[in-house]
Amino acid sequence: MKITVVGAGNVGATCADVIARRELANEVVLLDIRENFAEGKALDLWQTAPIELFDSRIKGSTNDYSKTAGSSVVVITSGLPRKPGMSRDDLISTNAGIVRSVTTQILEYSPNAIIIVVSNPLDVMTYCAYKAAGLPAHRVFGMAGVLDTARYRAFLAEALDCSPKDIQAVLMGGHGDTMVPLPRYTTVGGIPVTELIDADQLDAIIERTKKGGGEIVQLLGTSAWYAPGAAAAQMVEAIVRDQKRIFPVCAWLDGEYGLKDVYMGVPVKLGRNGIEKIITLDLNAEELKGVHASAAAVREVMEVLDGMN
Ligand code: NAI
Ligand code: 2OP
Repeated sequence: MKITVVGAGNVGATCADVIARRELANEVVLLDIRENFAEGKALDLWQTAPIELFDSRIKGSTNDYSKTAGSSVVVITSGLPRKPGMSRDDLISTNAGIVRSVTTQILEYSPNAIIIVVSNPLDVMTYCAYKAAGLPAHRVFGMAGVLDTARYRAFLAEALDCSPKDIQAVLMGGHGDTMVPLPRYTTVGGIPVTELIDADQLDAIIERTKKGGGEIVQLLGTSAWYAPGAAAAQMVEAIVRDQKRIFPVCAWLDGEYGLKDVYMGVPVKLGRNGIEKIITLDLNAEELKGVHASAAAVREVMEVLDGMN
């Protein structure tokens, strides 16, 4: 089993690190366009193997896609990260060019790969990869919901002084300020969260979650990587171990939730075949309104991308 991570920057290298530590593949290939960068990162990561005790070989490649041949899963993290004052949408034209060319080259050597997009603006870059790939949508999807729910769960664990392990949550919509955390589908050890926290505190956590990416950009001057890299690796794990895990994933909608031809975060079952099922929740009118507003925001940027082609 071979897994490729394109982009050996902050998110890509972290993702490869988690994949290797969990031994999700015999070989992990890190590819980057920057001369010798992926080779250097891969060598450094591989030298953690005797310490961390894993067998997955990590190899680097400077834009040589032949080294990625036969990959089962490919994570695309190549692109510019967000800088302070920059919206995710500002990234669109540069990152679309990168995602399109990476997708095409990956499929030349790994025609059976499942593709997980991480590059921003996430929902639209996933759409971009889907269009370039010409694959069924269950094999091209994006990572955002695993990260956004992780942020939501981490904030809740802090507020409730409880283990993040016990917090389960669903969050829908695009990866941006319009995302829709769903308190009605949030539980702590099986207990509805609304029974454990007051409404104002929960609202504040929801607002902080929506701006969770921006909060880190403000602190670091660039976007997050530990949680994003680990989130993408968790999706890889669900696929290669055929775990049938249920996560919010950026998926192509074909009528679910009354939405069609749009990529957006929805709960799905992830297994060996990629997205094995999109789960349709019985949303109330307010939740559905939030989800539709988020879809409209994503669609606007999708149209910008379509207009560029
Ligand atoms: P980074 O700048 O550390 O790494 C990006 C890497 O992509 C660089 O090493 C660069 O050389 C490489 N690259 C650029 N063009 C390439 C090409 N054509 N082929 C191969 N490699 C190429 O950035 P970072 O922090 O790793 O972020 C990567 C992307 O992920 C950004 O677009 C960022 O906004 C996004 N992101 C998405 C998240 C999500 O939840 N979906 C969360 C965090 C970041
Ligand atoms: C994040 O949410 C900026 O999308 C990036 O951290």
